[in-house]
Amino acid sequence: MAKWTDDDPSGFHPESLMMTYGFRPEWSEGAASPPIFQTSTFVFPSAAVGARCFEVAYGLAEPLPDEHPDLIYSRINNPNLEMAEDRLALWDGADTAALFSSGMAAITTTLWAHLRPGDVVAASSPVYGGTHHFIETVLPQFGITPVRFDHQATADGIAGSIEDAGGRLGLIYVETPANPTNDLIDLEMCAKLAARFTTTERTVPVAVDNTFLGPLFQKPLEHGADIVVYSATKYLGGHGDLIAGAALGSHEMIDPIRGMRTFTGNMVSPFTAWLLMRSMATLQLRMERQAETARKVADYLRDHPRVKTVNYLGHLQPGDPHHDLYKRQCLGAGGMISFEVDGGKDEAYRFLDSLHLFKLAVSLGSVDSLAEHPCTMTHCEAGAEENAKKGITAALVRMSIGVEHPDDLIADIARALEAM
Ligand SMILES: Cc1ncc(COP(=O)(O)O)c(C=O)c1O
Repeated sequence: MAKWTDDDPSGFHPESLMMTYGFRPEWSEGAASPPIFQTSTFVFPSAAVGARCFEVAYGLAEPLPDEHPDLIYSRINNPNLEMAEDRLALWDGADTAALFSSGMAAITTTLWAHLRPGDVVAASSPVYGGTHHFIETVLPQFGITPVRFDHQATADGIAGSIEDAGGRLGLIYVETPANPTNDLIDLEMCAKLAARFTTTERTVPVAVDNTFLGPLFQKPLEHGADIVVYSATKYLGGHGDLIAGAALGSHEMIDPIRGMRTFTGNMVSPFTAWLLMRSMATLQLRMERQAETARKVADYLRDHPRVKTVNYLGHLQPGDPHHDLYKRQCLGAGGMISFEVDGGKDEAYRFLDSLHLFKLAVSLGSVDSLAEHPCTMTHCEAGAEENAKKGITAALVRMSIGVEHPDDLIADIARALEAM
């Protein structure tokens, strides 16, 4: 925990601590809201203190039990980063969090920190297009072999593919629910699979992209995951005005990632960290409202004759293979919906072009409702044929529900379906 954190968070709900935790007004002229520490570097009180700060920051010495080394330089540590990280960690019940300049920075730095040449990385499919590219195209250039599995795969099936690919599993990477299909992957199954490949020399971590449901409606660390990653650009930021990412977990898991961040230099800026703190104060209000409205929109879509299928977690029925998993692993259905219009790409495009209140834009989790065409936009890299196999067809539209009035959103959809 940061040196500003001497409040005890136990016994409080995270939402009660988002306005205060980790900051004391007397540290900044009585300011009720933490100021932005817009500084590159920090002044040491003495050369010996400066040297000690470096020793601890570079891992040359362990900090003493009550030691809080001074700050050094904003690539390594900064008050806004540390406050935002401490507050974010509360939501997922993590020991620690590290903030990054983007979700992709958090994901790639996590993979760089925990994988080595010769490793296999087992990754769920589909995943966000940028992550897909990194796993399929970049990691193999560094001797890391991807093994992909979907929501129907069994632990034995995945284990067999890992053995076929060389057998040295370095990490399991999961995106659940998957973007854009809302497919669920069983985290407890992944944790057991990771344990099968863990040796006395090396723990195989399970990393989970929790962007779609987290941190409110899914807590992967409670289901056997070791690392949670976020595109904080989405619900955590929530206002469509910043790009950021995060990795959370135990010190054992996150310290190597934070260490890598010091040298890749892809930390979040003080201003963006400050914006994230502001956003986290309303995180629960926004996400609950978005989820409530998403249910109304999803029900409307399900009953519309010009809509073929709706991928919405709240529609899973007992008997559906994912229903029990949803009940066990998720705390709510969230605000993301994808659906197939009756037709193909032309109809999907006409629908998107006819929306007025929804913005035709990628990204998600913002206060404004957004709609896009995954097959030719966020997930275009995989190609139409490959995408169709994963349910990302030319007729599929993805919607991120914002905080507008549900009736207005439904009216906008009704008009656009009519114009299709
Ligand atoms: C599920 C998911 N993970 C990661 C990312 C990447 O995040 P960023 O755009 O903040 O780099 C995205 C972006 O859309 C996403 O949807």
